[in-house]
Amino acid sequence: MADQPIVDDSPEDGFDGIHEYDNPCPMWWSLIFLATFIFSIQYMLFFHVGNSGWTLDEAYQNAKVENLKLRFAQIGELKPDEATLISYMGQKDWLEVGKSVFKSNCKSCHGDDGSGLVGPNLTDDYCKNVKQLTDIPRVVSEGAANLTMPAWRDRLHPNEIVLVSAYVATLRGQNLPGKRGPEGNVIPPWPKTPASKAAKPAEEAPAKTEPAASESVKPAEGTKS
Ligand code: HEC
Repeated sequence: MADQPIVDDSPEDGFDGIHEYDNPCPMWWSLIFLATFIFSIQYMLFFHVGNSGWTLDEAYQNAKVENLKLRFAQIGELKPDEATLISYMGQKDWLEVGKSVFKSNCKSCHGDDGSGLVGPNLTDDYCKNVKQLTDIPRVVSEGAANLTMPAWRDRLHPNEIVLVSAYVATLRGQNLPGKRGPEGNVIPPWPKTPASKAAKPAEEAPAKTEPAASESVKPAEGTKS
């Protein structure tokens, strides 16, 4: 501080002519330092060792789940039928819920954007287990390929299965370049949804071939993937 006397206690000539001051930190500064240090230990113990559910992130997740339960009460139990799927494919708020289910449970295998990692690309027109909309919730509940695609029946709420299926259905048509290439067969377009009518032409991939249960991979017919 300005009113403290400056003490120069370096040897007469200093070192190489450089003089060093030796002034202790002011007491108020040291006390603040000590206080932050003591605070940090308690902070660490509180948030990182004990008391789960107290971080911002956990509190947010808990609130989201609570909110979801409230909203599930509004819609009752959804049926995994075509009309329900189509209806929820057009409802942005509910697609957000489907998307969050996807991000927490599916992206590890299908990729953040659905373009496929361990599991197949969900954004193209090729499918192995799915021919129509209602096959999506079926595959999601029951799993596929000896459960390399896990069964989610006992892990997700039935509404979550319907909502994530609706979300997955909306991923189709983006034809994102996946890491695995096309798998399965081209399937017929989904029935029209209120949103897709406005957004994009769904008739770009008419499936004239209805192959048997083989898993043959057809070459992409003029599609990007
Ligand atoms: C452990 C990895 C893994 C996870 C997690 C996973 N999947 Fe899959 N999924 C797969 C594999 C592998 C297949 C391909 C099965 C096959 O070869 O028949 C698949 C297939 C699918 C299919 C059918 C695709 C097709 O081509 O027929 C859908 C739809 C699907 N998964 C949706 C989901 C959803 C929704 C979730 C999250 C709730 C999810 N998956 C989580 C691995 C996974």
